[in-house]
Amino acid sequence: MNGKRVLVGVTGGIAAYKSVELVRLLRRAGAEVQVVVTRAATEFITPMTLQAISGRVVRQQLFDPVNEAAMGHIELARWADLVLVAPASADFMARLAAGMADDLLTTLSLATEAPLVLAPAMNRAMWRNPATRENVARLIRRGIRMWGPAVGDQACGEQGPGRMLEPAQLIDQVQRLLAGGLFSDVQLLITAGPTREAIDPVRFLSNRSSGKMGYALARSFAAQGALVTLVSGPVSLQEPPGINCVQVETALQMRAAVMERVAACNIFVACAAVADYRPLEVMARKIKKQAQRLRIELIRNPDILAEVAAMDVAPFTLGFAAETERPVEQAEQKRISKGVDAIAANLVAAAEGGFERDENALTLLWEGGRKQLPMMEKGLLADELVKQMAEIYAKKG
Ligand code: C5P
Repeated sequence: MNGKRVLVGVTGGIAAYKSVELVRLLRRAGAEVQVVVTRAATEFITPMTLQAISGRVVRQQLFDPVNEAAMGHIELARWADLVLVAPASADFMARLAAGMADDLLTTLSLATEAPLVLAPAMNRAMWRNPATRENVARLIRRGIRMWGPAVGDQACGEQGPGRMLEPAQLIDQVQRLLAGGLFSDVQLLITAGPTREAIDPVRFLSNRSSGKMGYALARSFAAQGALVTLVSGPVSLQEPPGINCVQVETALQMRAAVMERVAACNIFVACAAVADYRPLEVMARKIKKQAQRLRIELIRNPDILAEVAAMDVAPFTLGFAAETERPVEQAEQKRISKGVDAIAANLVAAAEGGFERDENALTLLWEGGRKQLPMMEKGLLADELVKQMAEIYAKKG
């Protein structure tokens, strides 16, 4: 980040105490940092602390006779290579979404031509409130980047989405963004692996998915700068570094983990082999082998991909179709019926490729186009798929 100019905006939220560490890490990585605070931010952290850590006088006033003599807000907007607002409160996002310019930070956010990134932080109910949801969707549509929030413990004692990303995660993202990359402005959510559907305390229904393709894709998107969250079913793979991993077991858990995070993502990739059915009843005790025949009644699981694609403000969606026959034809039908933007078709249970193997071949289908990717190692295949996705995603705007 040597010599890069990062304008850090701090708004009013308890996570403002983490902004000090963020500024410290940015400076340690070689960036020049100018801090701009809102009035509410100063209720949580003093400008003096931020001044000492950033090495610059912290700015707050829009109508500051000294700085505004030289059009201070425009000068700051031009100065920045990146504007990063961390934490970004619900109130700040609402003002930004409305296009207001009622303090220095909102004004320079309107005036800047540099990438503008928000790291939201607030109570989980505030994050889920329809007013916030609408504001977030508007901001994302305008090309404003949204990093986080993370899910977990909250200062108010509750649990859920609304935690600001940790300063080290934000630094990692800033580095990717400033380095460039096909997806440097993208927040991506991906599912991978199989799900397990319990029959009794010791048995489950599952499938042969190894998670290799999904994990390879998560890595390739991250290598192109995306901020990746991987929701994974049970697999025997290492969690990839630099990727936010959420481990789940059942289809219902996978759905919940996805729905909690999907509003903040730009792209959703459904690579998991989600069990289509689960046992209607889960036995509390281990089933004994007595009867000659045993029936287990199954019930349909929700289709996570179709549900995401049908959202009012849906992210760009990529699905997979693993088929044992006529993969391209069936995938095209799925693309249309699930309403997804793109789908990758592959043959499974063939001599090569597919589930459990290290190699695969895919045909990527989207509206008005298709591309065949020949048999290759899954890591290379993921790189090729990501390159192709960048073109389709850019066209979709
Ligand atoms: O309908 P089918 O299972 O063949 O569709 C496969 C695609 O849908 C994959 O992208 C898979 O991850 C996704 N899917 C899902 N939830 C389900 C079933 C499939 O997200 N319950």
